[in-house]
Amino acid sequence: MPAVVIVGAQWGDEGKGKATDLLAEHIDYVVKFNGGNNAGHTVVIGTEKYALHLLPSGILTPGVVPVISNGVVIDLAVLFQELDALNSRGIDTSKLRISANAHVITPYNVTVDKVSERFLGKRAIGTTGRGIGPTYADKINRVGIRIQDLFDESILRQKVEGALVAKNNLLTKVYNRAAIKVDDTVKELLSYTERLAPMVADTALELHQAIEANKTVLFEGGQATMLDVDHGTYPFVTSSSSTAGGASTGSGIGPGLFTTVIAIVKAYTTRVGSGPFPTELFDENGEFLRKTGHEFGTTTGRPRRCGWYDAPIARYSARINGVTDFVMTKLDVLTGLKEIPVCVAYEVDGVRHDEMPVSQSDFHHAKPIYQNFAGWTEDISGCKKFEDLPKTAQDYVLAIEKMSGARISAIGVGPARDAIIVRHDMLAK
Ligand code: GDP
Ligand code: IMO
Ligand code: MG
Repeated sequence: MPAVVIVGAQWGDEGKGKATDLLAEHIDYVVKFNGGNNAGHTVVIGTEKYALHLLPSGILTPGVVPVISNGVVIDLAVLFQELDALNSRGIDTSKLRISANAHVITPYNVTVDKVSERFLGKRAIGTTGRGIGPTYADKINRVGIRIQDLFDESILRQKVEGALVAKNNLLTKVYNRAAIKVDDTVKELLSYTERLAPMVADTALELHQAIEANKTVLFEGGQATMLDVDHGTYPFVTSSSSTAGGASTGSGIGPGLFTTVIAIVKAYTTRVGSGPFPTELFDENGEFLRKTGHEFGTTTGRPRRCGWYDAPIARYSARINGVTDFVMTKLDVLTGLKEIPVCVAYEVDGVRHDEMPVSQSDFHHAKPIYQNFAGWTEDISGCKKFEDLPKTAQDYVLAIEKMSGARISAIGVGPARDAIIVRHDMLAK
C-alpha cells in the first residue's frame, strides 16, 4: 500500500489542502511533517469552508488518523484553538497523534520573529510572524524545546533558562525590548500538558506499523519547493524542508518506503512575502488573477503576488521532489483571458537559461521568455472529464504537461470538493 507525499511545486498556496481532501477518502493516516501554523489551507466541503493552519487537512475526513510528526514546530495555543474550532463544527479530532520529538514554538520565538523582521527593514523576508524561523533556529542550535520536555518540569525549566540567556541579551541589548521571564514561559507551557498528554506518541513507530499493516499514509507538506530552506529561493524561504525529502526526515519513515510523490501546481503562479519571482505581473493581468483567483493569504490575509505559469520552476520541482504526478489547480481562474503566456525559459544578461540559473543573483534579474497560448471563454467549473474542457484549455494543459516533467493527473476547475477532473489514478502504483 502506498506512502504518498503531497508537496507544493511553487511558492505555496497551490491548493494542497484541496488535493489532500480529494485523496483523503482512500487514506488511513495523514501526516503533517514540516512547518507549523505558517501554513494556511482552505478546504471547501459543500457549503462549509475550513481554514487549517497547524492541523493537516486530512483531519476533515472521518476515520483518518491525523499525525503531527517530528519535523513540525507546534504553537500549543494555536493547536488547541484549532482543535476547539473544529470540534465545535462537529469534526472528530480525537485520533490526533503528536510526536514527542516535535519542537514547540515558544512565546519568545514569536517575539523574536516579529522584531527581527522589523529590524531587517527593506531586507525583511515577509514572514508570517508565527515564530517559525526562530523555532527551527533553536532546534538547529540545540536549544529548542521539544514536546517531551513539557512532561519534565525540571528539564523544561533548565532548557527555557538556557534558551533565554541569549534571547534576552538579544531582545534587551539589540532590539531594545523587555526581557522575557523564565517563570512566565514555563508556566504557560506547563498549562498545556494535561490536555496534550494523551496525544503524544512515538509517531515514527506508529507510522511504520501502519505501513507494515498495508495502510495508506499520506504525508501532507506545508509551504512548497521554492520555499524550502535548501532548495528554495534562499534567504526568501521558510525554515523547514518542505520538499519530498522532508517527509522522510520529518516523520522518521525511510525514503525507500515512499511510493508516490504528488506535486500541486497552480495553472499560474503566486507568491506571498518577499523574494524573486520572474513571471510576476504588475499590470491588469496580475490584478485579474488576484481578483478572479481570490489570491489573498489564508494565514495573514496579505494580497498574493501573481504571475504567469513558470515551466522551469515546475521542472525543477519535478526533479527535486521526484514527482510522479502533478495536480494542476485553478485552471478555471484563467477563463476569459484572450491569450495565456507561459514562461518556457529565462534570459539573463542576454543568455538563455532553460533551467533555473545556478546563481540566485541571476534568478533575481531573470527575464521570462514566453510562449503564448490561446485562451477560452466557456465556464469550465462543471467539467468532469478532460474531454469536456474547451480545446484551447486542453491544449494549454497538454503543453504544460510536456514542459513540466511529470504527468498532470488531476485538474482543479473550482474551489468545491468535486470541482476536479481526474485523469489518472494517482494511488494505483
Ligand atoms: P494550500 O496552502 O496549498 O492548501 O492552498 P490555499 O488553501 O492556501 O490556497 C488555495 C485556494 O484555492 C483555496 O482558497 C482553495 O479553496 C482554492 N482552490 C483550490 N483548488 C482550486 C481550483 O481548482 N479552482 C479554484 N477557483 N480555486 C481552487
Ligand atoms: P502554505 O502551506 C505561502 C512564506 C511567507 C514568507 C516565507 C517565510 O499555505 O502553502 P515563515 O513564516 O515561514 O518564516 O515565512 O514563507 N510562507 C508561505 N507562503 N504559503 C505558505 O504556506 C507559506 N508559509 C510560509 O510568506 O515569505
Ligand atoms: Mg496556503
